[in-house]
Amino acid sequence: MEFPELVRERCSIRAYKPDPVEEEKLAEVLEAARLAPTAGNEQPFQLIVITTAGREAELRRIYNREWFVQPPFVICACGIPEDCAASREPMMRCYIDVAIVMDHLILAATNAGLGTCWIGAFDPQAAREVLGLPRGVEPVAFTPLGYPADGRRPKTRKPLSELVRYERW
Ligand SMILES: Cc1cc2nc3c(=O)[nH]c(=O)nc-3n(C[C@H](O)[C@H](O)[C@H](O)COP(=O)(O)O)c2cc1C
Repeated sequence: MEFPELVRERCSIRAYKPDPVEEEKLAEVLEAARLAPTAGNEQPFQLIVITTAGREAELRRIYNREWFVQPPFVICACGIPEDCAASREPMMRCYIDVAIVMDHLILAATNAGLGTCWIGAFDPQAAREVLGLPRGVEPVAFTPLGYPADGRRPKTRKPLSELVRYERW
């Protein structure tokens, strides 16, 4: 898929088929995340790939939507602030890096015909418990990963004229 089409195609998918995701596609998506840029190339993140089958009830403690556990996988992107050695604001830096990693992952998934949805409104304490996160590992975002069961919706966005200024404020 050409890049302009890819960014038009990506949208939040909130209905999934239970169909399996091919190993090569999962690998492709994770490789895109690995190649994302991070400040100082510190790579202060870990991705947890969670198989949903049999863990639906636990996962719904983290984010209680039926569609969250419909696809074969949920991915949790975690930040490791203490790995942001060079920063005075490690938590913020770490969140920025993880967001870029997640964006790479999501665009690669779209390119592979897979659906995703950024999940930021999850229960962090439930995430810690269900995933056994040690201290110093912060869950930043989740996404389901699987084949979409619904199509792309038209995007509602502000026009560029409301979003871009030139030269100065
Ligand atoms: C940081 C972030 C957190 C989000 N958290 C949630 C969420 O918890 N639940 C949800 O259904 N969508 C969530 N979304 C998806 C947004 O609602 C969605 O991206 C936005 O409405 C634009 O729609 P689109 O992704 O289909 O283009 C989140 C998106 C971002 C970028």
